[in-house]
Amino acid sequence: MKKKLIAGNWKMNGNLAANQALLEGVLSGLPESACHVAVCVPSAYLAQVQGMLAGKGIDLGSQDVSAHEQGAYTGEVSAAMLKDFGVRYAIVGHSERRQYHGETDALVATKAQRALSAGITPIVCVGETLAQREAGQTEDVVKRQLAAVIHTNGHCISEIVVAYEPVWAIGTGKTASPEQAQAVHAVLRAQLKAASDHAERIHILYGGSMNAANAAELLAQTDIDGGLIGGAALKSADFLTIIGAASR
Ligand code: PGA
Repeated sequence: MKKKLIAGNWKMNGNLAANQALLEGVLSGLPESACHVAVCVPSAYLAQVQGMLAGKGIDLGSQDVSAHEQGAYTGEVSAAMLKDFGVRYAIVGHSERRQYHGETDALVATKAQRALSAGITPIVCVGETLAQREAGQTEDVVKRQLAAVIHTNGHCISEIVVAYEPVWAIGTGKTASPEQAQAVHAVLRAQLKAASDHAERIHILYGGSMNAANAAELLAQTDIDGGLIGGAALKSADFLTIIGAASR
């Protein structure tokens, strides 16, 4: 069985002092044979966190990457710049970016491509809204979102990480049941298998109110290879409990 991956998504939270306290807490309790662990931090803190994590067994991630290589794109951060700070993972297509910044499937696919070409692993987020779930569209929505990334990235698809994050579960305290999550993960796995001979090695993470209390049950599902953790990644004890559940 492959090692699981637990990635924290700090979103737009933190400051120099709080980041330091949080990471010191996580580092001091990190089990020796931990699963893969990453923290995806605001760009402003990449240098700080890179310095704190050097050689410590936790990888650095960003929460986005520009679809452009370089040039006159005010406010954007390129994949090459992220690479300069030792970034290993870049979240792309998080539902908050799709929703508040109008990111399309095509744009998300291009961002994944930029990350891959810089040697950064994109964590590609897919997920349905509550209205889509209630209308029975969950499968269609996640397959359409992933299909765009597969189409643009071809055989490199085995190098990505996928995160299934039902929009209705993000930050709401409403988690998908292990069965609901597994059902969608199985759909995504089948889609990846049809596109790549190496689909078994792709990590498919669950995200959406995963916490210290429900992580073990979710992580026990066949196709759940880890978690993308928002709120619970901001408390070192909770994040460590989730890492512990994924390290068994
Ligand atoms: P949450 O966020 O764990 O706070 O629901 C997960 C995410 O949005 O990545």
